[in-house]
This record gives sequence, C-alpha cells and structure tokens, in this order.
Amino acid sequence: MNLVRSRIVGTGAYLPARVVTNDELAVQVDTSDEWIVQRTGIRKRHFAAKDEKTSDLAIRAAQAALESAGLQGSDIDLIVLATATPDQTFPATATRVQAALGMEVGIAFDVQAVCSGFIYALAVADNFVRVGQARKALVIGAETFSRILDWEDRGTCVLFGDGAGAVVLSAEQGDGTSADHGVLTTHLHSDGRHHDLLYVDGGVSSTRTVGHVRMAGREVFKHAVVRLAEVVDEALEATGISPADIDWLVPHQANKRIIDAMGKKLDLDPNRVVMTVDQHANTSAASVPLALDVAVRDGRIQPGHLVLMEAMGGGFTWASALVRW
Ligand code: ACO
Repeated sequence: MNLVRSRIVGTGAYLPARVVTNDELAVQVDTSDEWIVQRTGIRKRHFAAKDEKTSDLAIRAAQAALESAGLQGSDIDLIVLATATPDQTFPATATRVQAALGMEVGIAFDVQAVCSGFIYALAVADNFVRVGQARKALVIGAETFSRILDWEDRGTCVLFGDGAGAVVLSAEQGDGTSADHGVLTTHLHSDGRHHDLLYVDGGVSSTRTVGHVRMAGREVFKHAVVRLAEVVDEALEATGISPADIDWLVPHQANKRIIDAMGKKLDLDPNRVVMTVDQHANTSAASVPLALDVAVRDGRIQPGHLVLMEAMGGGFTWASALVRW
C-alpha cells in the first residue's frame, strides 16, 4: 500500500548560555545538590537571558535543524511550534520563527500540550504531511519555564530549565509497513479532570498575572508511570513492533526515576535510553527534541533505527510516537 510518510531529515537544538548548577540554586533556595540528584537525576539546567525570548531559542534550534537537513526557511511550508511559554499572548510564537527564517508563505501556529507538546506537534505536522497539506515541516519545542517558576516553592523551582529543539519533516513515499522511514505511528491523550495536579496559577482570562507552576509532584509521578506505560504499549501494538526491536527510547526528560521505570518496563538495556535530564532538567516541550538532537549528533541514532518517544504533561496530556529514522 502506497503511503506518504513524514521522514525526519534534520534535527537542531539550542540551549541558552547561562548554566545553573544545583549548588548555585541551593544558595537562594532551601535545597541541596544531593536532594535534587537523588529525587530527579537533575544536575544542572540552562536559563534564558533576560532579553532572550522563547522565539529566540526556537529560531536558533530551527536554523540548526534546517542546516542539518540542507534546507532553507523558504523550503518549509509548515511550522508547528509547541510551547507553554509563548513570547506573547498572540500572535503565535511560530509566526515569529516563520518571519525570522524568511518563510513568506505556508502555515505557522503553536500547539499547547505542555510537556507532551512536542509529540502533539509532531503528530499534527505528520497528519498535514500525510494528507498532502504540507511537504516539508518544521516541528519545534521551545520553552522559557524559568519565567514561570516560583522561587519560594522548592518542590518545583529546582526541576525546570529553558531550551529549544527542532526537527525537519519531509514527505517521502512509503509502502505502509513498519519498514518505512519516518513517523510510523502517534498516539495522543488528554484527561482534563487532572487539571489541578499540574498547572499555572495565572493567565490571560483568569488573573492579571502570568502565574507560576503548581504541581502535586507525587500524584503526577504516579499517573506518569501508568499513563506512559499504556501509551507506549499502544504504539507497539499499532505497529506490531516488539520492545526488543526498539533501538532508542527518547523519553520526556522530567525525572530520571520515571525514565528508568519506562526503560525497565520495556526491558531495554539502559544504554538504549537517551537521558539528558541531568544536563537540561525538565524543559517541557523542548525536552524530547533536545534529547533527539543530542543522540543524532553524537552518532547514536542512525538511519534505519527505531526510535520510541513518550511524554506526559499538564492537563494531563500524554503521548507517544514511533519513528524509523
Ligand atoms: N529540596 C529539598 N527538599 C525538598 C525539595 C527540594 N527542592 N522539594 C521538596 N522537598 C522536601 C519536601 O518539603 C518534603 O519534606 P517533608 O517530608 O519534610 O515534608 C520532602 O522533600 C518530600 O517531598 P515530596 O514532594 O513528597 O518529594 P518526592 O519524593 O515526591 O519528590 C518530585 C518530588 C521530585 C517533584 C517528585 O514527586 C517527582 O518527580 N514528581 C513527578 C514530577 C514530574 O515528573 N513532573 C513532570 C511531568 S509533567 C511536566 O513535565 C510538566
């Protein structure tokens, strides 16, 4: 069966220059390197400069992705940008990226699914490509969570960082089997009943402040382990692929313990799990494409490899994608 697939033909990332270690945080917050490493695996994070916006991070990541794909902004006809920390209420941060890349036609919009945002954006772009509404798409995850952290809440402020990652999708003819290159399957879910377990206590139509991240960490942890296991199973069932065939698990980078639990569930050799949470902390929608870019550039992910991505975030939202590189 002939089928159009979205093949990932380039990746890129950008991390702000400022690195903040756990010890530096412990100077202003009642915490310690030992607590943070033990509970989360996080060792450091990057914070955007005062004048650096989410779009600035996204543009740098997009430029790197285009360069690795050997393409220019004018070759792209769709940008889907996942963020929970846009530059402004409107227009979409994606349109700023569009203008900066010299893309004068096509479509650019944002997707909001917090930490699941990149996989949501990937699924949206993949569907555009499959139905022929786009041929070359940029999918970006970009965040400046440092702007919405409450420095009085040690349970959340130590967990997050800023960054951006991007991939370029290109329409390619496949034969409809799991041997095709490109996005093989995506699975998205949300359940708004859990809104109050992970949210920001401000926003345009609720208060006059941007607000801060609020999280019931333990509850989120419990849900994450169950939901991520389910959504990973869905991707494997939909494609008839067994865990033993997975070359790389590229999970959302929120917490090393959750990532380890997923690796164990799939019975994956820990060396097959891409882990960047120690270096980047939780960068929300940027975490999966940042991790992808690291593993592509250091040569771990190779053409033909099967890459499984999963994420869970506020809403709750959760999602998986299985891609053959
Ligand atoms: N430093 C030192 N002590 C701390 C800190 C800190 N930064 N934060 C909390 N504590 C203390 C608490 O006050 C509490 O002390 P007490 O026992 O005296 O009351 C103790 O540590 C335990 O607190 P818990 O919140 O129960 O700690 P827990 O073991 O659950 O770890 C954590 C907290 C790391 C947030 C964990 O619950 C977690 O990782 N949850 C999942 C969060 C997550 O993955 N979110 C991301 C998914 S969605 C998204 O990415 C947006």
